[in-house]
Amino acid sequence: MEDLKENIICNEGDLYTILVNKDNQCPDNLNFEIVDVNSLYMNDRYLEKEAFNMWKLFQEQAKKDGFHIEIESGYRSKELQQQIWDEIVLEKGLEHTKKYVAVPGYSEHQTGLALDICLEENGKYYCDTEFTDHKVVKYIADNAYRFGFIVRYPKGKEEITGYNYEPWHIRYVGLELAKELTDNNLTLEEYYDNKYSKKQGR
Ligand code: DAL
Ligand code: ZN
Repeated sequence: MEDLKENIICNEGDLYTILVNKDNQCPDNLNFEIVDVNSLYMNDRYLEKEAFNMWKLFQEQAKKDGFHIEIESGYRSKELQQQIWDEIVLEKGLEHTKKYVAVPGYSEHQTGLALDICLEENGKYYCDTEFTDHKVVKYIADNAYRFGFIVRYPKGKEEITGYNYEPWHIRYVGLELAKELTDNNLTLEEYYDNKYSKKQGR
């Protein structure tokens, strides 16, 4: 049954709605165009092309609303995810790592559709936990859907997503699905569980 579910999700034919999580590996043969995002935070940051175009619109709107946001981390190859995994395990230990970092092969950063946001203020960048306490977090949560993104690991849904709260990690799913998920306070896991249950007549 689990295998069938995995096939349904990975073969939807629509890149933007793909489910990659602890139970669903990122397919190796994903067909997407990756572009350099020219992040002011750091060189060598990449995203899938449509996700990038929508991110630019989001970033421009945020700037008008008083927030300078940049990409801390975008597309990651499996090898890069392995490096990050190894570094965090060394620094923080395995149990912490499992709550914040996907096992290589199981990160949605590998799809090119996920990105971690950092905030710049007065020349200083606020990333990860330093980002969490800033009012930009509410701004992101309230506005991401307007550009086709969702906050992928929300507070209160840790048991469902399998990850701790990450207000900085957003995922491009397209305008329609982003609105549906946001309006109904659903994670991608809940969306697919509902859809799958209906498909099976349960
Ligand atoms: N931080 C998310 C879970 C990742 O590593 O993909
Ligand atoms: Zn992330």
